[in-house]
Amino acid sequence: MRGSFKKIKSLILVSITGLLSLGGCMPLSITDTSLASAKNQMRVGVVLYNAADPFVMNIADSITRYAEEEQELSQGKIIIDVLDSKNDQQLQNTQIDELIKQKYDAIAINIVDRAESANVIDKVKEAKIPVVFFNREPVPQDMNKWDQVYYIGAHAAEAGEMQGQILLDAITGGMKIDRNGDGIIQYVMLEGEPGHQDSILRSYHSIKVLEDAAIKTENLAMDTAMWQRGEAKDKILEWIEQFENHIEVILSNNDEMALGAIEALEARGYFKDNKSIPVIGVDGLTQALQAIKDDKMLGTVLNNADAQGKAIFGKLYNLSTGAQSQIVLDYENDGKYLWIPHKIITKEAIN
Ligand code: GAL
Repeated sequence: MRGSFKKIKSLILVSITGLLSLGGCMPLSITDTSLASAKNQMRVGVVLYNAADPFVMNIADSITRYAEEEQELSQGKIIIDVLDSKNDQQLQNTQIDELIKQKYDAIAINIVDRAESANVIDKVKEAKIPVVFFNREPVPQDMNKWDQVYYIGAHAAEAGEMQGQILLDAITGGMKIDRNGDGIIQYVMLEGEPGHQDSILRSYHSIKVLEDAAIKTENLAMDTAMWQRGEAKDKILEWIEQFENHIEVILSNNDEMALGAIEALEARGYFKDNKSIPVIGVDGLTQALQAIKDDKMLGTVLNNADAQGKAIFGKLYNLSTGAQSQIVLDYENDGKYLWIPHKIITKEAIN
C-alpha cells in the first residue's frame, strides 16, 4: 500500500449472510458502476481535505455512523475508506488516483483547493466513477462538466445571515452592544481560508443583515485565521492590543476560531467584572455550545454535520448500488445539489 493511500478509517462491515439486500429494490444492474453490487458489497472512498479539522471530522463520523445503520438494515457489506489529505492537494490527487485505479464505486471529495475541482472531475469522468463533493463547493462551471458530479452542503450565505440575525436580535432585544454609544457597532472579523465559499459569503452576509436593518457598522480589522483556534487566538490578542477597548463584537466564520477568540479574551481578563465582548461563530461544535451556556459566546449557527454525513452516505449508497438507502433523506434536492439547512443557536435554544 502506498504511503499516500494510508487509510485513517476503514469500515468493513460483513453481514451474516453476505448478501446485499437492496430494500425491496432490484436495480443491481442499473448503474455501470455496480461492480460493488455484483460482488454484494459497496466500496467507496471519502477523501477529507484535513482530518485535523473538527467540523470536517464530525461529517466523516456521521458518514460512517449512518453506514453502520444501513448495514444493520440491509445486511450487505459496506466498505468505506476515509483518507486524510492533510491540507495538501498533491497528496489528495494521488489518493484520488489510487481510488480510481482500484475501481472504487464512488468517491466523496472534500477538496483541498477548490480551483483543482476541474482536474479532478476530468479524471473521474474518464474513469466513470461518480463523485460527491462536500463542504468545499466547486464553482458551477466545474459542477456542470459531468452529470455524475454532485454537491452536498449548506448555503454559505444563509449561515452569514443567521449570524447577522443573532446580533440584530441582541441589539433590538436591548443588549448593550454599542458600548461607546456612538451609534456605530465596531467589529472585528475572523475569516476562514481565503477563497472558501464559507469565508466570503459568511463575512459578507452577516454584516449585510445589520446594514439592511439600518444599523451602522465599522470594521476595525478583518483577517484570515484559516479556520484555526490557535491562529484566531493570536489575531485577537493582537487586535485587543491594537484597539484597546474599542472592539464591540467579534464575528467569526466558524466556531473553532470563535473559541480561539474566547481564549484570547480570557487571557486578557475578560468574562469577569462584567467585562465581555460578544462572540458569534458558525458550526455548533460541542465546545461552542458550552461557551454559549457559560455566557462566553453570544451564539452560533448550526452547520449540521450529522445531516450532511447522512446525506453523503445516502448518495454514495445510491450511486454504488443503484438503490435508495433505507435511511430517510428529506432535504432540498434538485438531483445535483443537496442543501442542509442551518439553524440559529443561542442560549435560549440550548436551555
Ligand atoms: C466550514 C466550517 C469550518 C471548516 C470548513 C472547512 O463549513 O464551518 O469550520 O470546517 O468548512 O472546509
